Amino acid sequence: MSTIIECMGVGKSFSGKSAVGDLSFQIEKGEVVALLGPNGAGKSTTIQMLLGLLEPSTGRIIISGQNPKSKAVRERIGVMLQEVRVLDTVTVKEILQLVRGYYPRPLSMEQLTKLTGLDETSLNMRTEKLSGGQKQRVSFALALAGNPDMLFLDEPTTGMDATARKIFWKSIRELAERGTTIVFTTHYLEEVEYAATRVLMVNHGELIEDGSPEMLKKKLVMQRVSFLTDEVYRPETFQGLGASDIRVDGKKVTILTGDADHLLKVLYALDLEISEVTVSRGTLKEAYSQLTDSQEAS
Ligand SMILES: Nc1ncnc2c1ncn2[C@@H]1O[C@H](COP(=O)(O)OP(=O)(O)OP(=O)(O)O)[C@@H](O)[C@H]1O
Ligand SMILES: [Mg+2]
Repeated sequence: MSTIIECMGVGKSFSGKSAVGDLSFQIEKGEVVALLGPNGAGKSTTIQMLLGLLEPSTGRIIISGQNPKSKAVRERIGVMLQEVRVLDTVTVKEILQLVRGYYPRPLSMEQLTKLTGLDETSLNMRTEKLSGGQKQRVSFALALAGNPDMLFLDEPTTGMDATARKIFWKSIRELAERGTTIVFTTHYLEEVEYAATRVLMVNHGELIEDGSPEMLKKKLVMQRVSFLTDEVYRPETFQGLGASDIRVDGKKVTILTGDADHLLKVLYALDLEISEVTVSRGTLKEAYSQLTDSQEAS
C-alpha cells in the first residue's frame, strides 16, 4: 500500500474560534474512508482543506507528495461539495462536455451516464430546471468527468431518493474496486457500513476514532445476551456478570454487556436452568450514538 493523503497536525480556526483542532492521519491508495461526526464536527472544513479550498491555520496537508493546490493533484481529483452549485442556463450534457474538456483523460459520456444513472431527458435539461436529487446526480457526474483517482464527497446523497442512492453507492463500490481512493462524509450509517473500509470519527474538530466499521462496532457496541429461564429472577443472581443493564420480560432475560464471553462463562458457572441463549451485537448507529454521547458527557 502507498500513502496518498497525509494530514499532519492540521487545524483551522474561523475568527479565532477553532473548527478543527489537531488532525493527523494518513490515507492509503484505494481506501474508502468515511468521515463521520455530528453537525458542526468539522467534516466539511476538513474536506475543503484536503482540497486546498481552505488554508489550514496550522499543520500541513500533502497529497501524492504535493501541495493539494497543485495542478497535478487537481487533475486527479473529483469533488462533490456539500453546497451544490452548477452553472445555470446550459444543459447537463453541455456542462459535462465542458468539464470533460478540462481533463487529459476524461471518462466517456457513456461511462458517466452509466455510473450516475443520468438519463437522456436529464442530459438535455438545463441545470437550473433540475430537482435537488437530479442536481446531486449531475454533481456526481461532474466529479467523475475527469476520471479521477481520488474522490472527495461531502454528503453526496443528501436529497437523493432511494433509487438514486442505490445507484450511487453501487457505482462508488465499482470505483473502489478499480482502485479509486474515496473520502466521503454522510449522516447515513448504513452507507458507511455498505461502502467504507475505514471510518474516521470526528467530534468538535478532533479525531476520536479511527478503524474499520467492523472494528468500531466491536469496540464500541454493547452485546446483548438473552435467554429463557424458569428461575425466579433476583437481581443478585446476576451480580458479578459484568452486566450494564438487565431486563426481564416473563421468562426472557436480556442482559447488555461489553464482554459477552465473560458473561456467558460466569452465567454457565452459576448452573442455572437456561435455554435459547442468543448473543447479538448492536448496530453501527448505536456505536455512533454511544461515542458522541460519551463525548458530550465529558
Ligand atoms: N466559513 C466559516 N466561517 C466561520 N465558521 C465556520 C465556517 N465554516 C465552518 N465554520 C464553523 O466550523 C465548525 C465546523 O463546521 P463544518 O461545516 O466543518 O462542520 P460539519 O462537520 O461539516 O457539519 P455538518 O454535518 O453540519 O455538515 C462549525 O462550528 C461551523 O460553524
Ligand atoms: Mg458539512
